[in-house]
Amino acid sequence: MTKGFTIWFTGLSGAGKTTVSRLVEKELRARGYKVEVLDGDVVRENLSKGLGFSKEDRDTNIRRIGFVCELLTRNDVVAIAAAISPYRAIRDENRARVGGRLVEVYCECPIDVLAERDVKGLYKKALRGEIKNFTGVDDPYEPPLSPEVVIESNEETPQQSAVKVIAKLEELGYIYMKEAP
Ligand code: ADX
Repeated sequence: MTKGFTIWFTGLSGAGKTTVSRLVEKELRARGYKVEVLDGDVVRENLSKGLGFSKEDRDTNIRRIGFVCELLTRNDVVAIAAAISPYRAIRDENRARVGGRLVEVYCECPIDVLAERDVKGLYKKALRGEIKNFTGVDDPYEPPLSPEVVIESNEETPQQSAVKVIAKLEELGYIYMKEAP
């Protein structure tokens, strides 16, 4: 029935990638789609166990996630990736890899808000220099130039963000419009 596609969440740590991706997953499943989420934190405990945060290791991590997205996409599954994926070139590589069937969702949030929120306590450690090469603090993040969706997680609720993503998927014809009750 459906053709697969990939939804790629990118953005700094704590910007809402996991939360919103899980809401999108739930909505798509409720509509009958087969969905798989590849979350950076989970992938790093399994498929990418042992990798660190050098550019080389991050690129390897993101290419691995892209590889799995390709397998899922070509088998008519909705693949959802949620990883910082800081480098534009590798994200673009993955877009090509899934034949362009990729919806990029940029989770945008000012760094001072993230550092203030600091759910995992990592920003404070990074700002104190206890963690090196932390994305957004002393390691680069290259924002997407033309993402399909931009989420502003300090200005919208996760539910509102998820609705934006779903609406874009409908608009682009990746999923059917929900029938009126
Ligand atoms: S990516 O750069 O390779 O895409 P990924 O999304 O898999 O990163 O993992 C990011 C998560 O690892 C963060 O949410 C955070 O919990 C943790 N982390 C640990 N060290 C770092 C670091 N130096 N930079 C960014 N995230 C880090």
